[in-house]
Amino acid sequence: MEAAVASAPIGGDMRKALSHTSMAEQEDFDLSRLLNKPKLNIDRQRSFDDRSLSEFSIGGNIKVGMDGYDYSPGMRSGFDTPLSSVRNSFDPHPIVGEAWEALRRSVVHFKGLPVGTIAAYDHASEEVLNYDQVFVRDFVPSALAFLMNGEYDIVKNFLLKTLLLQGWEKRIDRFKLGEGVMPASFKVSHDPNRGKDTISADFGESAIGRVAPVDSGFWWIILLRAYTKSTGDTFLADTAECQKGMRLILSLCLSEGFDTFPTLLCADGCCMIDRRMGVYGYPIEIQALFFMALKSALSMLKHDAQGKELIERIVTRLQALSYHMRSYFWLDFQQLNDIYRFKTEEYSHTAVNKFNVIPDSIPDWVFDFMPCKGGYFIGNVSPARMDFRWFALGNCVAILSSLATPEQSVAIMDLIEERWEELIGDMPLKICYPAIENHEWRIVTGCDPKNTRWSYHNGGSWPVLIWLLTAASIKVGRPQIARRAVDLAESRLLKDGFPEYYDGKLGRYVGKQARKFQTWSIAGYLVAKMLLEDPSHLGMISLEEDRAMKPLLKRSSSWTC
Ligand code: GLC
Repeated sequence: MEAAVASAPIGGDMRKALSHTSMAEQEDFDLSRLLNKPKLNIDRQRSFDDRSLSEFSIGGNIKVGMDGYDYSPGMRSGFDTPLSSVRNSFDPHPIVGEAWEALRRSVVHFKGLPVGTIAAYDHASEEVLNYDQVFVRDFVPSALAFLMNGEYDIVKNFLLKTLLLQGWEKRIDRFKLGEGVMPASFKVSHDPNRGKDTISADFGESAIGRVAPVDSGFWWIILLRAYTKSTGDTFLADTAECQKGMRLILSLCLSEGFDTFPTLLCADGCCMIDRRMGVYGYPIEIQALFFMALKSALSMLKHDAQGKELIERIVTRLQALSYHMRSYFWLDFQQLNDIYRFKTEEYSHTAVNKFNVIPDSIPDWVFDFMPCKGGYFIGNVSPARMDFRWFALGNCVAILSSLATPEQSVAIMDLIEERWEELIGDMPLKICYPAIENHEWRIVTGCDPKNTRWSYHNGGSWPVLIWLLTAASIKVGRPQIARRAVDLAESRLLKDGFPEYYDGKLGRYVGKQARKFQTWSIAGYLVAKMLLEDPSHLGMISLEEDRAMKPLLKRSSSWTC
């Protein structure tokens, strides 16, 4: 059994803190606008911040210390009782309780304190590999579930623990990695004889392929903001350590060099798709997370001497990045037709076909796949190379971060509805579409036997992604999309033992080498349920568009064709 851990209570002091938090002032996220959307059919009109002050107002202060985490005793034994099912007016599905139990089983403790969740708790599997570690990206949905349930400590401990790990010297052979790199994962080992806990971390030096996780630092910043939004505890983000952590992560990405684009140049395997899958270059997942992390940091960085300079660089980069992504990564029927008719070999700044994409390189499938109504951010854009594949994570994060314009967000949802069978099928949802096969699979994946067509990263279906789809569809005002997807997942997830992924064109088969009781499949489902139940949770992981970044030109015709 997991030790019952007290939740950090929120009280009157928090109320004060929240009233002059820089985040509350800077963000123009107007939840009441969302809640008033007719399609949403929500009976609550209170804003997110109202809710966090009233329902979570259970007395006491949150104290934050880097080493001596100070935990005031909680007012409830929330570890066994999900608040969400107590609070809701809906009948919780029977698998909700099982999912909470499974999530709690995956909690990892360090010196008696919960610090994260392991990737999978699969006893049946012979090979543990690194599934007994706490992955930064995998912990995000767990963290959101805990935050939504009013259990803040585990998230705070995780943020602080990973921050300490960031401070380690990182080396691969004789080469030193950048100071700001956050680990992909860490492992807690218990020595029962000496009664000692030790931690080891992986920054890419043990990972298959030896690639550093570019996404970890971004997820860390995004989670710090979610924690701050959810608890109202601005003290954590304000500590010198967290401010430095953010500065280090962002300094890795904002330095000037040979880049001619504002996007981030990456190696294959540096994100959720952590092995060779042809996503090297400028993958949409990283660009969307980069954008979201920049915006999140903007709301938390202090305007002191060091912060100010960084803030200016962030603002400049955000403008360039959103322009680049919205113009060159966006694909809809009209844009596809334009590319199809592109002239090539254009020289000088008047070129229309800036990256010299040869129309013959457009794959056949995309002409059939592209509906009249709808559009999406393609996988990658670089000189003479457009990867037209659809990637779910990047597109959902683009909506949540407002990298996508409101029109583009609607178009992405239109595409999902128009291409339901391909992108959702029988199990939400495809990590990417379509799969690569035969000769192309050989060249692109390096003959990877795990990534055969319609399996794992190569067109497999990942239940964890359901939380992102749910959040994005609520943001766009179309929660019915999420409901449909959750219904599908609910019909199988528990029966199949919460697998890591499903295989097949429709996602009908439990993945060839999928772990069972994969923590983020469990947490992703819970987060989706809680978001549907109480859409005001969306504020934690959604950012509104800044007026300064509104596009000057509306080009897309996705919704008129
Ligand atoms: C796989 C996934 C990766 C995840 C890890 C642990 O390697 O590709 O995204 O973090 O498993 O679940």
